[in-house]
Amino acid sequence: MNMDTLAELNKKGYLEESIDPTLDLFAEIEKLKKEKNAIVLAHYYQEPDIQDIADYIGDSLGLSQEAAKTEADVIVFAGVHFMAETAKILSPEKTVLLPDLKAGCSLADSCPPHLFRKFKEKYPDHLVITYVNCTAELKALSDIVCTSTNAVQIVESLPKDQKIIFGPDKNLGAWVAKKTGRDLVLWNGACMVHEIFSREKITKLKERHPNAKFIAHPECEESVLQMADYIGSTTGLLKYSIQNEAQEFIVATESGIIHQMEKANPNKTFIPAPPNNSCACNDCPYMKRNTLEKLYLCIKNGLPEVNVPADIIVRARKPIERMLEISAGLGL
Ligand code: 13P
Ligand code: SF4
Repeated sequence: MNMDTLAELNKKGYLEESIDPTLDLFAEIEKLKKEKNAIVLAHYYQEPDIQDIADYIGDSLGLSQEAAKTEADVIVFAGVHFMAETAKILSPEKTVLLPDLKAGCSLADSCPPHLFRKFKEKYPDHLVITYVNCTAELKALSDIVCTSTNAVQIVESLPKDQKIIFGPDKNLGAWVAKKTGRDLVLWNGACMVHEIFSREKITKLKERHPNAKFIAHPECEESVLQMADYIGSTTGLLKYSIQNEAQEFIVATESGIIHQMEKANPNKTFIPAPPNNSCACNDCPYMKRNTLEKLYLCIKNGLPEVNVPADIIVRARKPIERMLEISAGLGL
């Protein structure tokens, strides 16, 4: 890699190289995966082409489990930065690549570690549970990490009198507090994609589709969750769409999950829940920074790479491993 390309990468966060338009990117990526002993892990929020080329597609928990056990030399993480960091923390000896380094997360950004450290100091007798959607530095300040699949069970695994700080997502935290009956101290963070759904527009949509089930991710606001027939992680929502007999579903989460829902249920209809603005979509601008072209260049050039400082790896690994142990014990 020459210095010009590296400088360019640093500026843009991703490699920009002209790609022969006649190239079959699917075939090329498959070839490169074999050549480099690389695995592509993709979150459900990635664009359909990326989901289709991935070796594993899943939610945040499934992706961490997969990153911890893979034997590949290179993990190409088609997701966002905190997910690639988690993979690096769990498999520090492997090369972890992210097609676009600017694939961040509004929720992770809503909790700067220096402010969280001060917040934590106010509650010295509290245990800290952090949602995986946060920086590696924040995980290093935590006792246990959780995802939306296991947050309720992780809180329930602790003694009833254990005082708990939950961050950074206040909506997920409030939902977990309600489900477990625990009084959690919440950090005031949120995801821009899940906070945008309009209760009013969803009500109108439900009137037009009276037989549709309304399903929502727990990162949505309480007022939206109150309307839901089912609340769950992306994997939970996908399973519900398969197991429930309804033929129509209004889906309040990032639109990428609809690709897997439609593949699993070709005869059912999935309607993205309407947001609060004139935009008809509910795409995560960070997740959607990754494209098939960037994925191809990333695997071909072995860049951009995600690294985590060694001391953070040591401290952040414990709370993530604790989550994986509890989840394994519960069969999650
Ligand atoms: P899950 O993968 O746990 O469903 O969470 C969704 C999400 O917001 C990831 O950024
Ligand atoms: Fe972050 Fe929200 Fe995008 Fe998930 S959907 S990566 S929480 S901004």
